[in-house]
Amino acid sequence: MGAPTMEPMCGIVGYVGPRDSQAILLAGLARLEYRGYDSAGIAVIDGAGELDMRKRAGKLQVLRDDLSAHPMPDGTTGIGHTRWATHGGPTDANAHPHLADDDKLAVIHNGIIENFSELKAELLSEGYTFRSETDTEVAAVLLGREYQASGDLVAAFRTVVSRLDGAFTLLAMHRDQPGLVVGARRNSPLVIGLGEGENFLGSDVAAFVEHTRNALAIGQDEIVAITPAGVEVTDFSGAPVEVEPFEVVWDASAAEKGGWSSFMAKEVSEEPEAVANTVRGRLHDGTVTIPELDGMDELFTGIRRIVVIACGTAAYAGQTGKYALEQWTRIPVDVELAHEFRYRDPVIGEDTLVVSISQSGETMDTLMAVKYAREQGAKTLSICNTQGATIPRESDAVIYTHAGPEVAVASTKAFVAQITALYLLALHVARLRGTISVGEQATHVRELEAVPAKIQRVLEEEQTHIEQFSHWMADTQSVLFLGRHVGYPIALEGALKLKEISYIHAEGFAAGELKHGPIALIEPGQPVFVIVPSPRESAELHKKVVSNIQEIRARGARVIAVAEEGDAAVLPFADEVLRIPLAGPLFEPLLAVVPLHIFAMGLATAKGLDVDQPRNLAKSVTVE
Ligand code: M6R
Repeated sequence: MGAPTMEPMCGIVGYVGPRDSQAILLAGLARLEYRGYDSAGIAVIDGAGELDMRKRAGKLQVLRDDLSAHPMPDGTTGIGHTRWATHGGPTDANAHPHLADDDKLAVIHNGIIENFSELKAELLSEGYTFRSETDTEVAAVLLGREYQASGDLVAAFRTVVSRLDGAFTLLAMHRDQPGLVVGARRNSPLVIGLGEGENFLGSDVAAFVEHTRNALAIGQDEIVAITPAGVEVTDFSGAPVEVEPFEVVWDASAAEKGGWSSFMAKEVSEEPEAVANTVRGRLHDGTVTIPELDGMDELFTGIRRIVVIACGTAAYAGQTGKYALEQWTRIPVDVELAHEFRYRDPVIGEDTLVVSISQSGETMDTLMAVKYAREQGAKTLSICNTQGATIPRESDAVIYTHAGPEVAVASTKAFVAQITALYLLALHVARLRGTISVGEQATHVRELEAVPAKIQRVLEEEQTHIEQFSHWMADTQSVLFLGRHVGYPIALEGALKLKEISYIHAEGFAAGELKHGPIALIEPGQPVFVIVPSPRESAELHKKVVSNIQEIRARGARVIAVAEEGDAAVLPFADEVLRIPLAGPLFEPLLAVVPLHIFAMGLATAKGLDVDQPRNLAKSVTVE
């Protein structure tokens, strides 16, 4: 038996209604392709009552081409899947759907079934056979066996999901029960779309937003059965449960590329809007009030510590936000990678606020850290960009960033929105605790309001310049990034973005750390980006960073400075200067990161790479 293939992040769509489902499934999968893109498949119950299935390794287009060349009968009940596997090859056989019960039953799955080998052994001993290496096929075969016993798909499904350990979203349909798709979730996303005489399931609302903006969020360990006439949600024991309706706040065009060359290009261009939409409705007469946090004043005045947990870019947003949170609220803040957090017995309790940050709201490492924090008695607040996602549902409170759907794997507009949300939180809490004067609040609110236009200026004035020199740098082997204070997490973010989409070695360092080791890396021609603090706002730091620049320049580094407009001190030492508008010190990161996003994208494009779907990565990682 080979290693199982497991699905850390897949796109799932289900449809029942009067319309032919293939086009609906394929369009839904196209919008979900960012969740996984190494194979794709669909299954439909056709007009003759047969179950037809097609699946192909490769991007969704491979499946589309196959269906155009060899059309498959259409039908009004269907499920579809795009996959991203960590183990086992992305082969036709391992792609979903997986069939069972003499190919009358189809199953798709996201997540990991941890006890799949015990279940498989049980089924093998009963004479069942398997065509793939996946854990998913085990669930399909088990469901086939249970359906044979009961003749009731929902009841059989309930029995099966109750036996599964791990994280999963599962969808199933059976040829003998057309007009019915069943789904279940545990620690993995699944939302319902409510249409007129038709209903949808999706791993997120992008799956169906083209057809309806009325959605229901399904809770942990719940089962849903959709028919054209309605939706029934129960827990795993079959007891009915209340589901939470919500309206999707963006429309289908928000998740489409429009005229842009890539989703990443579109999303970088949307950074001003992401900040503007995140502050909207939360600024009032020079103060910040976050309506979602109404009734929680006591919590915020009572806490003694804040721990921010997140992964990747979201963690860098957390590191940036720490400076404002501490400065404005005077509450000590620690920022931790979510996957490290719960493995080291952290000191947290009832007086700790654990703030999780996640664009997708589905990152398993972050979700598990949130659950752990709750178990320890801490209060939890989620900063999230995705309505109906799991992490906000598992948290005591949520501040949604309103960056709109982010499709490119590299997180860009969500990053600036996350920092913005942290600043809003800091100002909200500082007001409640009285740690900041009315005048200071008003100054920061004005700064926040000015950020979108300033980002827009960076995009308008620097984009072409950056794209040109990133083109000349297409053969670069390694790039370093230096920053200090809030510039430090921005240096880390610049390096991550470059690694992620251009596959170039990149490292971010605190500039003050240079002499403690990294300066040994500098040799003639080594490109180094330096985030330079404002000489007006942080004269001392500015001086120190300029002398860091001189040190590396003396050793032959090629310096690309990201510096405030009018900062002439960097000119003699920099090979390129990327200008950002004047801003208060804590607001500079929201501007300084923009050239770094453009640079990463420019370099990857110059290398001819797919900036939206970089190798080995998926948009969010729904396994630990
Ligand atoms: O969805 P999340 O914000 O929880 O994702 C966290 C990281 O996986 C994510 O930011 C990742 O580092 C990005 N691909 C970076 O561009």
